[in-house]
Amino acid sequence: MTASVDDLAAPAPAVSDGELATAARTNLWPHFSRLSTYRDHDVPMIVKGEGAYVFDDKGNRYLDGLSGLFTVQAGHGRKELAQAAATQAETLAFFPLWSYAHPQAARLAERLAAETPGDLNRVFFTTGGGEAVETAWKLARHYFKTVGKPMKHKAISRAIAYHGTTMGALSITGIPEAKQMYEPLVPSAIKVPNTNFYRAPYFADDEERFGRWAADEIEAAILAEGPETVAVVFLEPVQNAGGCFPPPPGYWQRVREICDTYDVLLVSDEVICAFGRLGELFACNRYDYVPDMITCAKGMTSGYAPIGAMIASDRIVEPFLTGTESFAHGFTFGGHPVSAAVANANLDLFQREDLCGRVRENEKLFRTKLDTLLDLPIVGDVRGAGYFYGIELVKDKATKETFDDDEAERLLRGFLSGELFRSGLYCRADDRGDPVVQLAPPLICGEPEFDEIVGVLHDVLSRASAQL
Ligand SMILES: Cc1ncc(COP(=O)(O)O)c(C=O)c1O
Repeated sequence: MTASVDDLAAPAPAVSDGELATAARTNLWPHFSRLSTYRDHDVPMIVKGEGAYVFDDKGNRYLDGLSGLFTVQAGHGRKELAQAAATQAETLAFFPLWSYAHPQAARLAERLAAETPGDLNRVFFTTGGGEAVETAWKLARHYFKTVGKPMKHKAISRAIAYHGTTMGALSITGIPEAKQMYEPLVPSAIKVPNTNFYRAPYFADDEERFGRWAADEIEAAILAEGPETVAVVFLEPVQNAGGCFPPPPGYWQRVREICDTYDVLLVSDEVICAFGRLGELFACNRYDYVPDMITCAKGMTSGYAPIGAMIASDRIVEPFLTGTESFAHGFTFGGHPVSAAVANANLDLFQREDLCGRVRENEKLFRTKLDTLLDLPIVGDVRGAGYFYGIELVKDKATKETFDDDEAERLLRGFLSGELFRSGLYCRADDRGDPVVQLAPPLICGEPEFDEIVGVLHDVLSRASAQL
């Protein structure tokens, strides 16, 4: 028997709040989430954003302390970004960058290249950060094959660092729990220590020497693997997972030196750190180093449309400029015209409102206010830069003893995540390393929002302390 059109039709879309809640619980698969959590609870439904705030379907307001997911730099509800998307969709909704260009991508590539340091002049657009990382590793391999070093293929990255979920990017990621169910992964992804100075295994009283040690561990890994096999090092300017590990003084300069010595490419993974998060459009400018590639995404459009990019130096592009060599890589939606138009409008907005300058001006105030949380027994460390901070929670402040798995589960999932949200603050309680609360508010925030964030955290973390 053949099916009628009616048989094949999808169920009518849910319309009422109740139906939407049911659809979210039964048809939607939320990312990085336990579905069991939503057996007895609705999935929080966010319906609207305005400035630094988002609103749920019950009318509750939340301060967006994480800029969605480190993306909404310019804040919610910016009409000029929505308008840029609408105008572009009317003019040219879609055309691929496969052997063609469109004006928004060309303009955006030129503007990004103008902001990068050194000779990083060539922009390869993707739809997000993981694809940018994937692109950088593939390009590193391809580059070395074209210059007669075909053995160079390995990637080095840091413990607990997150670089995305596609198989290549996941292999570069240094979070064992995020990887084990997907083994075997892409071989040849080597891990080195990160720059968690709070838990420095050596030189715990001298940040610069600690940084030198951590950078030298990259050299040790290159030598152990054989420099002729190592293609690329992936590092974030400030590492996110684990709770905002800034680079110790001199760290990046030493890493650059090591990469030059062994002809290893250096990727600055700025998927979170670019676009003002650390007070510069590209964070490598803050720490004064020139990578060979930058990967970026998220804040490029302030989250109003998806886009990412891998930006490469002239040296890497050189073998592709003549003859028949071509980078056999791409994505249908990479550099989508609507996303590129929004990114251009977002860069205009950054200029007009000097969002990077605003972060530089306010970061000390934000930090000073967050540091008051160190009075609480549960707060072991406050670290980060710009509008990007991690607050590490400890069981015993004097010994820095952390929580065991059960305790972390009860503290983070059983108490903090829900309590912070109920108190009107959306942020992230995370235990991919030691337990931390992570903050990355929109760059439009200032003192009133800092006070609100610290007020909620003080209250909720005090109550968490009392339960210890
Ligand atoms: C440093 C870094 N690299 C890569 C990614 C992956 O980006 P996406 O989720 O857009 O694929 C992320 C995501 O948070 C990230 O923080």
